[in-house]
Amino acid sequence: MSYYKILGLEKEPFSTSPDPEFFYLSQEHKSAFYRLRAAVSLKRGLNLILGDVGVGKTTLMRKLFNIFSEDAGFITKITLDPTAKSEYAFLSALGDIFQLKPGFRSSSNYKKAMENFLFEKGVKENNTIVLFIDEAQKLSPASMEVLRLLLNYETNVSKLIQIVLFAQMELLPEISRINNLWDRVALKCVINPLKEEEVREMIDFRLNRAGRIAKEPLFSDNALNAIYNYTQGYPRKITMFCHEALQYLVMHKKGTVDKEVVQEMIQKEVRIVTRDASRIVQVAQYV
Ligand SMILES: Nc1ncnc2c1ncn2[C@@H]1O[C@H](COP(=O)(O)OP(=O)(O)OP(=O)(O)O)[C@@H](O)[C@H]1O
Ligand SMILES: [Mg+2]
Repeated sequence: MSYYKILGLEKEPFSTSPDPEFFYLSQEHKSAFYRLRAAVSLKRGLNLILGDVGVGKTTLMRKLFNIFSEDAGFITKITLDPTAKSEYAFLSALGDIFQLKPGFRSSSNYKKAMENFLFEKGVKENNTIVLFIDEAQKLSPASMEVLRLLLNYETNVSKLIQIVLFAQMELLPEISRINNLWDRVALKCVINPLKEEEVREMIDFRLNRAGRIAKEPLFSDNALNAIYNYTQGYPRKITMFCHEALQYLVMHKKGTVDKEVVQEMIQKEVRIVTRDASRIVQVAQYV
């Protein structure tokens, strides 16, 4: 029997996949969500969502993708990894995403096909065309130049393609150096980690989503405080830690994650990390 069923849950509460159903709207996520939804609907062109590793960028993207996909006036596409070795490679990847079939496959034909598609679907059929690019820190300068070109396609009032870049902070110095692209970023938004109170709310939210009906709390107040201190409010760290903590409860036949459980788990984790680090040093001596 799965550990979460033993705890009276219907689903896995702390899976690490970016499932929008388990997306808790913290202040930071809520603000990014509404601002982004407005900017895309107003067809302002290029939008940038930045945040540290594991802060919830991909989950936010999937949440917005679901919302736009339900709207008949939106054509929404995603690329999860925009790595491309050349301008042509990036254009042909975009061609696949938008199902373009240029007669002869060349960069200029892909550009023409993209322009035709945007006019056909965007202007004639009046759709909002959205491209979400996750892991946008992997965009090369050549690919960013392609994005700049796509943003040149516009009517008198709006851009024909709405691009949203979701990226780790390292994109910031790169993109801000490219003046003619940086100037076009309509929305710049940084997602910060959760506040202490929000950590508690996120954990409750995910447990409720997983089917928990309020009985005894699974996490004591002190445990929640210790989890906040340890994770510093980073959602992926919280999710992974809580997953381990619930498994610990089941293994040790306990009812509540208290401060002692949290401390024991942290110490165990620190021991593993230190042991692995010393092993790496040992191995390095022999290579
Ligand atoms: N607001 C949130 N509410 C609930 N869970 C969240 C939230 N944000 C993130 N998570 C959880 O944290 C984990 C990491 O989230 P996600 O993959 O979206 O982060 P990321 O910013 O895209 O990370 P990376 O920089 O590594 O790509 C996922 O398990 C996700 O479900
Ligand atoms: Mg991500």
